[in-house]
Amino acid sequence: MSEQKSTPGARDSFSSKFGVIAAAAGSAVGLGNVWRFPYIAGEGGGSAFLIICIGFVLLLGIPIAVAEFSIGRHGQANAMTSFKNIAPGTKWHLTGFLGILAAFVILSYYTTISGWTLEYMVNSFSIGEASSPMNNPNYFQDFISEPFRPILLQGIFMLLTAGIVVFGVSKGIEKASKILMPLLLLLIIVMCIRAVTLEGGMEGVKFLVKPDFSKVTGQTFLNAMGQAFFSLSLGMGVMITYGSYIQKKDNLLSSAAQIALADTVIAVLSGIMVFGSAFAFGIAPSQGPSLVFVTLPNIFKDMFMGNVFAFIFFLLLTIAALTSAISIFEAIVAYIHERFKMSRIQASALGVVLVLAVGIPITLSEGELGNLKILGRNLLDFFDFLASNIMLPLGALLITLFAGWFHGHQGFRDEITNGGTANMKIYPALEVLIRFVAPVFIVIILMAGIMQI
Ligand code: TRP
Repeated sequence: MSEQKSTPGARDSFSSKFGVIAAAAGSAVGLGNVWRFPYIAGEGGGSAFLIICIGFVLLLGIPIAVAEFSIGRHGQANAMTSFKNIAPGTKWHLTGFLGILAAFVILSYYTTISGWTLEYMVNSFSIGEASSPMNNPNYFQDFISEPFRPILLQGIFMLLTAGIVVFGVSKGIEKASKILMPLLLLLIIVMCIRAVTLEGGMEGVKFLVKPDFSKVTGQTFLNAMGQAFFSLSLGMGVMITYGSYIQKKDNLLSSAAQIALADTVIAVLSGIMVFGSAFAFGIAPSQGPSLVFVTLPNIFKDMFMGNVFAFIFFLLLTIAALTSAISIFEAIVAYIHERFKMSRIQASALGVVLVLAVGIPITLSEGELGNLKILGRNLLDFFDFLASNIMLPLGALLITLFAGWFHGHQGFRDEITNGGTANMKIYPALEVLIRFVAPVFIVIILMAGIMQI
């Protein structure tokens, strides 16, 4: 048991229920909502993709979040140790190991994108001025294909993340996310209003609400499931760790539902903001990962005090990315720290080196290494695909099997219903979702995805 104390630096700092929710929402709300969702939805037919995504959040996302919380709260430790505590002598803790691998894969490209947001934050001051580098329509493409600056910024972001994780997730972070997350919401609302009032902006909203099911293929379902898992931080054990901080009297289902609601609302608002401006400026919604970086500066340029809004927006986007990156890096550091008996500082340093060893080639894949393709994708797209569409669903599958079948009917039920005092009416449905619906869906979609490769 001594092992678990040393694991997440934050263990003692999350005092209130709201603190845990804010931290979990901080993990969930990140680049996945503002950067990833709009471009994946743009490629997948807009609203049809959104509807399928929301379906997956309700049918799979919330139940799996509850399953992760229940494992963490029952095991009272980080992802790997929780499995060991509940199922000693079994191999279930390897699910936690798969999560650590996924954490590496995700963080190595997450830091690339976060580096881009830093660049935009710094440059946003000049937006609207004649001399601004952002006036160049090819600015984004030129910047990301440079060999030096994107790596520097990626390194800075990685060090920021590590700098916080080394000292544990302090009350500062908890307090900051309580203030910054609502502020992010407020700013996104302002941006949405600006986007839909642009000439032609409503076309973007139509794209997001009027379904075009002709674009839906097997790949759309795979992408939607991957997006739901990625955006809710599921399948990797982050929510297991955070679940271990949730007090015994708190309601796991309502906590999961609140986080899912916040996450979905931010994704939809991001979609409105990005598609609204994309359509107003005649930019195709299906242009891929650059979507948010190319369209947003266009709105700011014509806006009153646009540079101030741009700065605040990219600052908040960076912070949203940071609160997510912390939750991912913590999984890596906790593992190295325990498994190899290193200090947190050593573990963090090693973590930085390992993440950047994979991350730098990924950053370069937008330029120098652009010709390096795996399965027709450049490194960044491939790693994103591998993590979101293969590793997270696989992790989520193992988590549902563990929670629904291994953990045993009674243990699981007691944890979710707080010993029979909460969620009793909805519990049977939740159990069906976790034991049958979620595993079957995940297997079918995973198979379909693997066949497509
Ligand atoms: N959910 C975050 C986002 O949307 C990313 C993230 C943080 C994540 N922790 C994770 C993704 C764990 C998968 C697993 O940006």
